[in-house]
Amino acid sequence: MDLQKSIKLYKKASEIIPNSTNTNAKRRENFLDENLFPAYLEKAKGAYVWDLDGNKYIDYIAALSPINIGYNDDRIIEKIQQQIKKGAIFSLPSSVEVELAELLIEKIPSAEMVRLLKTGAEVTSAAVRVARHYTGKEMILSCGYHGWHDWWSAKMGTKGIPDCLYGLIKDFPFNDFTTLQKLVDLYDGKIACIIMTAADYGMAPKNNFLQKVRKLADEKNIVLVFDEIVTGFRWSLGGAQEKYGVTPDLAAFGKGMANGLPIAALVGKKEIMSVLKDNFVTSTFASEALSIVASLETIRILEDDKILEKLNGISNRIYDGLKAISKKQGIEINVFDLLPALKFEFDLPNEKEKMDAAIEFMKYCTKKGLMLKRYGTEFYLCPIAALTNEDIQFTLDVFNDGVKLLIKK
Ligand SMILES: Cc1ncc(COP(=O)(O)O)c(C=O)c1O
Repeated sequence: MDLQKSIKLYKKASEIIPNSTNTNAKRRENFLDENLFPAYLEKAKGAYVWDLDGNKYIDYIAALSPINIGYNDDRIIEKIQQQIKKGAIFSLPSSVEVELAELLIEKIPSAEMVRLLKTGAEVTSAAVRVARHYTGKEMILSCGYHGWHDWWSAKMGTKGIPDCLYGLIKDFPFNDFTTLQKLVDLYDGKIACIIMTAADYGMAPKNNFLQKVRKLADEKNIVLVFDEIVTGFRWSLGGAQEKYGVTPDLAAFGKGMANGLPIAALVGKKEIMSVLKDNFVTSTFASEALSIVASLETIRILEDDKILEKLNGISNRIYDGLKAISKKQGIEINVFDLLPALKFEFDLPNEKEKMDAAIEFMKYCTKKGLMLKRYGTEFYLCPIAALTNEDIQFTLDVFNDGVKLLIKK
């Protein structure tokens, strides 16, 4: 694999961009050394991406999950081109903002009002602001990642955050109702919101977890916020809340809502969202129209082309394929819950063996033209609907050979 151009640019970037990237999840340590894995991608189409040196890959990262239909869908490009001729942004709101708000209200169970912004971190931050304003309380109980802003980064102990914020957020693990209940008891009367991912890569709610959280929030007058940044427009059009039949008070959408264009939405109950009339959640580019028309067209395609059924079908095949490889090769592969975004790892006796296996497997897959995301020993797969049957078969063949190689070692 020739990666010379990538390597050269990576060296330059390390001097002028902290960690050589503007997106944390694109740091080198999540992939492989720059001599073994491309540092830059230059173009993409459908389910394929090309690196700076011209090598082609089948992409299972989906740009960290915004791509659900496929990269650079011609129909979405056309809508963007039509809009750019009229204008990308104006001095007053444009009609497409109202059109998208109406569509989101139609499709998302919890949506009665909408605030558009640009990023996931912005809309989860807006949700927390709204919940604090509405309840007059300050504590936040959080499950999962919700973006880089101070209120959430305080949970990680990140430096550069005012001391007063560290005590205002507490973490509870997914599917752990007992811990949540204890926190609610401990901070009774002080909690503004429970903000949580309702599902995630390979992680489905169990034992009526969401229903129990909903009931608890109701009993204690706590605002329930679902972070649907990953699950929205992938689990189902209306997100995990629609799939699992539990409606939060507020919900944050982003990523997949415009097949890769930068847009995010806070939606929720009118009574709660109305506090925004007297608050201050705003951005110059919140009304940027190219992403809005891209979102309108994305939602149309997701429905008309039954994209979410396709994503589920692809995940099914890969899930079954991994299980079959595990059985055939006699190596334990832990494939987590079957969902439209998958997670797996090699179930080996200790962390070192797991890590060595993950790195060897990733090296092999990369050489064969698969672009995979790895956090430590775990692989995250975010299928794109444009994947063909041949792509999926090729992927499973590469996985099988990659596993065989591990066994030989
Ligand atoms: C569940 C979840 N919430 C919030 C965010 C933050 O979104 P953004 O990176 O668009 O700010 C992310 C990003 O990965 C996410 O996965």
